[in-house]
Amino acid sequence: MAILVTGGAGFIGSNFVLEWLRLGLGPVVNLDKLTYAGNLRNLSSVENDPDYTFIHADICDRDKALQVLNEHRITAIVNFAAETHVDRSIHAPDEFLQTNVYGTFALLEATRAYCETLPDGEVATFRFVNVSTDEVYGTLGPDEAAFTEDSLYRPNSPYSASKAAADHLCRSYFVTYDLPVLTTNCSNNYGPYQFPEKLIPLMIRNGTRGEALPVYGDGRNVRDWLYVTDHCAAIRRVLESGRPGETYNVGGDAERTNIEVVEGLCEILDGAAVGQHRQLIKFVTDRPGHDRRYAIDARKIHDELGWQPTESFETGLQKTVQWYLDNEDWINSIESGEYRDWLAANYELRVSGS
Ligand code: NAD
Ligand code: TYD
Repeated sequence: MAILVTGGAGFIGSNFVLEWLRLGLGPVVNLDKLTYAGNLRNLSSVENDPDYTFIHADICDRDKALQVLNEHRITAIVNFAAETHVDRSIHAPDEFLQTNVYGTFALLEATRAYCETLPDGEVATFRFVNVSTDEVYGTLGPDEAAFTEDSLYRPNSPYSASKAAADHLCRSYFVTYDLPVLTTNCSNNYGPYQFPEKLIPLMIRNGTRGEALPVYGDGRNVRDWLYVTDHCAAIRRVLESGRPGETYNVGGDAERTNIEVVEGLCEILDGAAVGQHRQLIKFVTDRPGHDRRYAIDARKIHDELGWQPTESFETGLQKTVQWYLDNEDWINSIESGEYRDWLAANYELRVSGS
């Protein structure tokens, strides 16, 4: 008996696996394709743990998924496996459709076949947690109320559209086949092991090297930030006590404009490293279709499941910068040719703004 985590070598997945094992919650199987975003180094501290198994596979391979479900007598799945970077989805959407839509479908089909072989009691306690994003709800105006679980789906990027499609498939498998699926829609995460293509780790990386800090557009887009281990705790609460068929919004009640985030990082870096980091800020060509504001109303998961974040944005940001400063070799180790090609593709054509 074990839980199956897919995408466990990525940012949130590896934090989830490390915490799961640290808390002694039982055996965990990590199935990951190891794309550019997957890094087994994140899990080197647990690779010999008898409760940890790694399987190198693609969630699109449903025969393999079914075999893993059977062999390890899986009691729950937490699906983190996905293509996750909005800018990459704009440059090359194909993989997003493949993994996020078809991959979720394949995993649901494998789960359906597996559950058909389980006794009724074990189906009733089985859980499939679909880890999704607030980006499926689209964008908010400055004075609009935060997204609730009843907000309409209005995805604006190929990434968010592919996640929305996966959410709809999950919902349909609950309604049609009674599969015990639950969806979490979480706001932007940050913390250790995040790939330095996303805002916060990219700025820390560039700042420590004295390279430009590229802020898209006017820098006034708003994201609602959540420290990664708070997200992991929310998923554990949903696994334990969430109601199948329900969706739960997860967020840190920490709305910040991008420029506030980048200036906050500069201040922390000024204290920790040599240099005046604000001088590195460069406003560059905006992202097409750039959602203006995300904000999450997390009252449902708070009221029903008793979850709330433990980390404030200020303490979380300090911890995150410290982790990257202490783990420079982690960043160096992922600076492959693929990463450098990505920086060239995404940033070289962006011209400086005001
Ligand atoms: P990530 O990009 O850091 O990691 C994704 C992981 O999935 C990698 O280990 C990769 O190798 C693996 N993977 C990709 N395609 C695969 C496939 N076909 N089969 C098996 N493994 C595959 O992602 P993350 O930031 O950790 O996000 C995890 C999940 O959480 C995603 O579903 C994402 O949509 C969701 N989410 C992320 C955030 C955020 O801010 N990062 C916020 C809300 C929701
Ligand atoms: P990102 O980390 O890519 O997450 P998401 O697009 O899923 O919210 O971006 C967070 C915000 O930061 C988003 O508004 C885009 C902005 N951004 C920049 O201004 N510069 C950058 O180099 C990157 C990667 C993002």
